Amino acid sequence: MTAPLKHLLHDDDLARSLRADVRAGLTATPKWLTPKWFYDARGSDLFEEITRLPEYYPTRAERAVLAAQAAQIARITQAKTLVELGSGASEKTRLLLAALHEEGSLAAFVPFDVSASALTDSAAAIAAEYPGLQLQGIVGDFTRHLDSIPAGGGRLVAFLGGTIGNLLPEERAALLDSLRAVLEPGEWLLLGTDLVKDPAVLVPAYDDAAGVTAAFNRNVLAVLNRELGADFDPAAFDHVAHWDPQREWIEMRLRATRAMRVSIPALDLVVEFAAGEDLGTEVSAKFRRERIAAELAAHGFALEHWWTDPDGLFGVSLARA
Ligand code: AVJ
Repeated sequence: MTAPLKHLLHDDDLARSLRADVRAGLTATPKWLTPKWFYDARGSDLFEEITRLPEYYPTRAERAVLAAQAAQIARITQAKTLVELGSGASEKTRLLLAALHEEGSLAAFVPFDVSASALTDSAAAIAAEYPGLQLQGIVGDFTRHLDSIPAGGGRLVAFLGGTIGNLLPEERAALLDSLRAVLEPGEWLLLGTDLVKDPAVLVPAYDDAAGVTAAFNRNVLAVLNRELGADFDPAAFDHVAHWDPQREWIEMRLRATRAMRVSIPALDLVVEFAAGEDLGTEVSAKFRRERIAAELAAHGFALEHWWTDPDGLFGVSLARA
């Protein structure tokens, strides 16, 4: 049976947090924006296109791990409820659902996403495929609303795609803390993380030859123009993908190609850009197994299984609360 979506984020919440984020980021030095505003309809389409680029290996590599290990994951966890954070199009979730169904343990699926439209589409398809499955979609922000995940033993929380890498270290710590607080001992976390590797492989994944990632990056300016009445000229910004070897993360930026003054009427704000000034738009942290194990342990999770794709590009951790 399909329950209606539980809405924890309403349009006015979203509008309020967009305004607060943009004001904080554009008045800071250096300027930055949080990546959560990339994903309007166009941004979500561009991201889907990124996942099919020859340079963007994470999606294929993670899919290879899940295809190889889904049956194992089902056997080990015996999960009754699969919760997926940031489920989006949830194509990889299908592999987990199929394996848990096959294992005979699956009773419920809880997709959790900021985007109601992403949830409605994927929930409808999954409901049709698994007629007996309880479905409870939650429209929420996983940095604030994890406590609304339905209680009841036997849960497996999947946080895939390497999205945890888009959080700053302190946000990541807070997320792991609140996840651990929601889960009972013996419940499970399945975490997908992109791994540290040669920058000659990493950087092109964020700066592809066809320019799709550049369009994805610039699209955030179109979001601000539409939602806040801003007058950014997206074409006046260059796409930059920078590997930071100390922090082991990719930083995406938009670099002003000339001096500019941008007005943002909804914030009653005018922002000056110098020629060559960078606006940070995303960090995408890359991990090593030891660091993941240590961070999980620091937040009350035991890393019990670790898998990578055959090329060692992407890691999937199965950790027990
Ligand atoms: C949201 C983690 C899947 O950081 O690799 C892709 C977003 N940004 N290309 C990532 C993204 C630029 C992506 N994830």
